Amino acid sequence: MLIDDFKLERYFAKYEFSTKYLISSSDCDGFSLEYILSSADDKEMSLWNNLRFGYTDSRGSEFLRESIASQYKTLDLNNVLVMSPGEANFILMNTILNKGDEIICMYPSYQSLYQVAVSLGAVVKWWKFDSHQNYQVQELESLLSKKTKLLVLNFPHNPTGFLPSVDDLNKIISLARKYNLLIFSDEMYHQLVHDASKQIPSICDLYENSVCLWGMAKSFGLAGLRFGWVTSHRADILKKMVSFKDYLSICNNAAGEVLTYIALNHKDNFINHNIKKIVKNKKLFSEFVRRNSDLIEFVEPVAGSTALAKLNIDCPSLDYCEKLVSKTGIMMVPGEMFDYGDSYVRIGFGRENFDEVLKIWESYINEKKP
Ligand SMILES: Cc1ncc(COP(=O)(O)O)c(C=O)c1O
Repeated sequence: MLIDDFKLERYFAKYEFSTKYLISSSDCDGFSLEYILSSADDKEMSLWNNLRFGYTDSRGSEFLRESIASQYKTLDLNNVLVMSPGEANFILMNTILNKGDEIICMYPSYQSLYQVAVSLGAVVKWWKFDSHQNYQVQELESLLSKKTKLLVLNFPHNPTGFLPSVDDLNKIISLARKYNLLIFSDEMYHQLVHDASKQIPSICDLYENSVCLWGMAKSFGLAGLRFGWVTSHRADILKKMVSFKDYLSICNNAAGEVLTYIALNHKDNFINHNIKKIVKNKKLFSEFVRRNSDLIEFVEPVAGSTALAKLNIDCPSLDYCEKLVSKTGIMMVPGEMFDYGDSYVRIGFGRENFDEVLKIWESYINEKKP
């Protein structure tokens, strides 16, 4: 199988562990093992202390699938498959797509959401958003054809932090229902909503013809666990997916299952902590943008951990980012990594040292001012 490089991931690979500061990460700081275990009750501690490293159930152990299902309104453990998020995306595309099929995907998007489909010979049609988060639900209908197999959504959205209203979400689902269209809903940032009144439900609780993805990396600040899950009412798709998994990881790592279970059962300790940090850093960034409005503009995200900011500069954003990292040690992701023109950067709000990094960036900006 031939597949293009994952630009964003390759850019991270170049700098993430060699440079001093990161200002574009989509994950929040990783919590410690001690923090996870300090949330555990006696029953959960006993699971941890009695852990054995044999194979686990390839669907995910029952205790974990039950806990995952309880996060949703319409699911039980049979609607859940546990696997790493990248694996889930890869498997889903491989089990449902054929050469010549069309998929509709939001633009810009996290690359794996369309690149695996492209490598399988599918054709992507783009549902376009701009960095001001303008979009039209009606436009979706004009993208549909007889060959459309899948609508790929990602709310809260990486990189813009966009979240639709419940009304708009229902309009999207009505449209999918009208055309009996399968939705793959990447909800990796689910519940990471800055104002609780804007929270939206998972699509799998609203639409029977969907496969939804959530996991530990973003909402929970546990990216290193490498855990995620798909949920669906489509038993036929889940059956195919678990069979495909036999050729990849086969089953999940035993320690990760217990840690994921504990984090899920005490999700407020993780998600609320992350939301507070994101909201604080978003405010710092808004003040920074006001002070530097000649250089940068952005629309405040309402959800997720990232935003796309526009740079008013006379060179490509990739060049700007390369200079910034070499002069200051700050790694910033240019819009080019999302194939999104050459004047945007992604900002990530999930890190504790955000203020420190912003100050270093601002000194760099001020040094360059005449
Ligand atoms: C929209 C989206 N989906 C999936 C993933 C993959 O998540 P994980 O790192 O847990 O594999 C990411 C990671 O950045 C993402 O932003």
